[in-house]
Amino acid sequence: MAKNNQSVQAIRGMHDILPEQSPRWQYAEKIITEVLSSYCYKEIRLPIVEKTELFKRSIGEVTDIVEKEMYTFDDRNNDSLTLRPEGTAGCLRACLEHGLLYNQVHRLWYYGPMFRHERPQKGRYRQFYQLGLETYGMPGPDIDAEVILLTDRMWNKLGIRDKVKLELNTLGTTAERLVYREKLVNYFKQHLDILDDDSLRRLETNPLRILDSKNKDMQQLIQNAPELMAYLGEDSRKHFELLVQTLDDLGIEYTLNNRLVRGLDYYGKTVFEWVTEDLGAQGTICAGGRYDGLIEQLGGKANYAIGFAMGMERLLLLMEQLDNVPIEQGVDVYMIRVGTEAEKEGMRLAEKLRNEVPGLKLQVNCSGGSYKSQFKKADKSGAEFALILGEDEVSRGEVSVKPLRTDQDQTNMTQNEVIELLL
Ligand code: HAM
Repeated sequence: MAKNNQSVQAIRGMHDILPEQSPRWQYAEKIITEVLSSYCYKEIRLPIVEKTELFKRSIGEVTDIVEKEMYTFDDRNNDSLTLRPEGTAGCLRACLEHGLLYNQVHRLWYYGPMFRHERPQKGRYRQFYQLGLETYGMPGPDIDAEVILLTDRMWNKLGIRDKVKLELNTLGTTAERLVYREKLVNYFKQHLDILDDDSLRRLETNPLRILDSKNKDMQQLIQNAPELMAYLGEDSRKHFELLVQTLDDLGIEYTLNNRLVRGLDYYGKTVFEWVTEDLGAQGTICAGGRYDGLIEQLGGKANYAIGFAMGMERLLLLMEQLDNVPIEQGVDVYMIRVGTEAEKEGMRLAEKLRNEVPGLKLQVNCSGGSYKSQFKKADKSGAEFALILGEDEVSRGEVSVKPLRTDQDQTNMTQNEVIELLL
């Protein structure tokens, strides 16, 4: 029987981001949001929980996410709710609900945890962070190019550009896919003996996903399968050609991958993924595409949409490998206080310094101790200076200042001189 004084552990696949890791996260978040604002994207903040129906109707009933990965529960009103497995559905739901899609163009981004009950492994978690971006109201391939250019700029700024490659495909329109689907099913039906169980099931539900199979024994079969490209209409073909031309013009390299079909049902026309070989099996850092059709599917008027989401943990794993993040020192100044009066005066002085010296990182010793033990903590904090306040300093209206990273001597200063020093 479990003892009730045993410590409680985190849920499998759900991780803490510890203080020593958070500077790297903050660094990535800062760069990403700077790039987003340089393209005039605005933040939208969305609920973490939505009605289950929203995900079923958008991601698709026969996708892995909806079939086996959602955290779904009945709340106290017996409404079926789900922890969001992704952000596209919620973002579109919000825009439709608030009438943002009437004759308007939007460039939006969101950031936060998503939840999928997958088998945890390196780069795959049950709670993970996504930075997602969605645009609405723009039909042409220029916006497709823009979202790709924006990601390319992020990789450059984050210093991981050499580590990621762009894969590109088009899925055509729903009508084009239907014709193709039939051809594909006919083709696979002639080779039922080679298909694995998963693919046999997908033959009925989502045959395009068979192209995505990693099963070695099926690669030859997949290689020889009919290609969607041959079934594209004029409009889809032109859209894709123009996108590819723009990327060529701007020097963005890509690989055309006609097996890139994505695991969510809402895509049509452009789809893309940024992949790396440095993270083992979970190498997709960022993925997305166009999903015009979803807007009507969720009750809106016909419109246009394209977006992507990047997995922050995967991005951070890659950045960790490169170890190229300039981590700022956490503490500039450490304040040592000994004696009751010095403790009071120190608090007052600390507030004054924070008022007067913009950006100052000042840590006040609040755990007592002798001069010696407080000095040890000051040194360990990485601070440039220790400010020392004892009864003597307080009675003279002064502060002792000890440079911690040079051999300079300790000196006495007035409070104003300390401000001058730190400015
Ligand atoms: P997705 O491909 O399901 O697309 O996820 C996007 C990215 O989220 C993946 O490429 C990966 O980096 C990260 N990711 C997904 N699952 C996990 C996991 N279990 N653990 C860690 N990272 C994970 C979407 O979610 C779409 N909503 C993207 C989109 C936005 N399409 C259009 N707009």
